[in-house]
Amino acid sequence: MHLQTERLVLRLPRLDDAEALVDAVSDPETMRYIGDGSTTDLAGARRTIGKWLARWAESGLGQLAVERREDGAFLGRAGFLVWDREEWRIGSRPELGERAEVEIGWTLLRRHWGHGYATEAALALRDWALGEAGLTRLISLIQHGNERSVRVAEKLGERYERDVEVMGMRTRLFALGQAPARVTRAA
Ligand SMILES: CC(C)(COP(=O)(O)OP(=O)(O)OC[C@H]1O[C@@H](n2cnc3c(N)ncnc32)[C@H](O)[C@@H]1OP(=O)(O)O)[C@@H](O)C(=O)NCCC(=O)NCCS
Repeated sequence: MHLQTERLVLRLPRLDDAEALVDAVSDPETMRYIGDGSTTDLAGARRTIGKWLARWAESGLGQLAVERREDGAFLGRAGFLVWDREEWRIGSRPELGERAEVEIGWTLLRRHWGHGYATEAALALRDWALGEAGLTRLISLIQHGNERSVRVAEKLGERYERDVEVMGMRTRLFALGQAPARVTRAA
């Protein structure tokens, strides 16, 4: 998977991206609205990228590294995460089937905020997802207070739908495309 925009290249992550990603995952301000807000170190950054690669293998969807074309700088990550829309836990498309809800998300290294890079990456991913990948709906799960992220979601055409409880936290669900009818788990 490889996408190019005016200023960016989106490519599959590599384990050695951890050396740049660590600047994001070790920064409390960047991690403030991600999960429980905890930070990690280089080994944690490597584990994160390992998980991203495993999710690509499981679901044919996942996170991409965002690079600046001009100088090849690693700016952050943007991509997809598959959720169980009944229980709001991370899963895979084969396992969840119709219960799968695909999230589009983004994180940039703090020094690269404020240039429109997240929106530029997310617009390309949205178009790929709704085009080539054949998806009809995308969501973004955004914690209360994360207004920068809301601005990106709204620029994609996502609208606030409802609050959901994700890992014990009330979280805003933004979405593009129609909500599916409720699917209940087979007995
Ligand atoms: C969420 C996050 C990716 C948003 O980053 P961002 O840089 O604010 O978002 P964008 O890349 O879309 O940039 C938009 C800003 O760039 C400005 N900008 C500058 N040049 C621009 C250009 N050429 N094109 C578009 N926007 C430009 C815009 O005016 C806008 O600034 P504003 O929000 O102050 O109005 C970033 O804050 C982040 O990594 N946060 C931590 C991780 C996180 O919370 N992720 C989301 C979890 S749900």
